[in-house]
Amino acid sequence: MHAHAVAAVATAALGATVLLSPVSDSHPVRAAQPMVVAHRGASAYAPENTLAAIDKAARLGFSWVENDVQRTRDGELVVLHDDSLARTTNVEAVFPGRAPWKVKDFTASEIARLDAGSWFSSAFAGARVPTLERYMRRVERNHEKLLLEVKNPELYPGIEKQIMKTVSNEGWLDPAHRSRLIVQSFSADSIRTVHRLEPTLTTGYLGRPKIAELSGYARFADLVNPSYADLSANYVSAVHALKGPHGKPLRLLTWTVNDAATARKVRGYGVDGIITNKPDVVRTALSAS
Ligand code: G3P
Ligand code: CA
Repeated sequence: MHAHAVAAVATAALGATVLLSPVSDSHPVRAAQPMVVAHRGASAYAPENTLAAIDKAARLGFSWVENDVQRTRDGELVVLHDDSLARTTNVEAVFPGRAPWKVKDFTASEIARLDAGSWFSSAFAGARVPTLERYMRRVERNHEKLLLEVKNPELYPGIEKQIMKTVSNEGWLDPAHRSRLIVQSFSADSIRTVHRLEPTLTTGYLGRPKIAELSGYARFADLVNPSYADLSANYVSAVHALKGPHGKPLRLLTWTVNDAATARKVRGYGVDGIITNKPDVVRTALSAS
């Protein structure tokens, strides 16, 4: 049997249908394809972690988007990847004396003044760093689903509780929304905290624990999400063999896959999802074979 067929049968047998949505809502391929997640939005085509990036993902026909959540000096949750504003905004020009321009050293109103689009392309001039609240409202408006990363939690004590409060205020802890939200982090402590605060929420650990240590992670994480560079069919099988905190087989999303050959390779390993800056490229790759 073809490797992908083996993986699909194995995945179906493991009952991972919750996440085995079509490659996109508008372009279904077949039932047992890996889900495709637009990384930082459709970040190859619009500035990462902006509303424009999740709008672009929606226009391309993808429902799952990934983001990174951090906190400002005055306690506002914002969506940005780096711990510094320097790479993806014009902060150096607007606040020249404030190197190294850490997110945690700026207020929300200061960050709201920054241009988070021009670094990517003049077509996106004026895009802003979204607050988490504003971002979630756009996700809702776009009928999208959110893979929310707690980024650098060691810099922001208590951020998990604060994220849960925002998520709850926005109505995302109700039964209709829960299946549209996964919270992940590179920090096991952070994900343990999220699981303790909201035990029914779906959680993911970012990284590749040793196979012998996976069962420890399965106590608080429903997914284990490693880089594609660290992956093998054997590792995916080891993840699928365990049950997570909700009694279902652990699942695995891999990142960041931006080319067709790698997308087909990891599908052959049996992954449940692919996180990508180029969701259209991954969709085409998975459709073609
Ligand atoms: O969602 C996986 C991926 O986002 C983890 O890496 O550095 O892009 O946040 P990073
Ligand atoms: Ca991320």
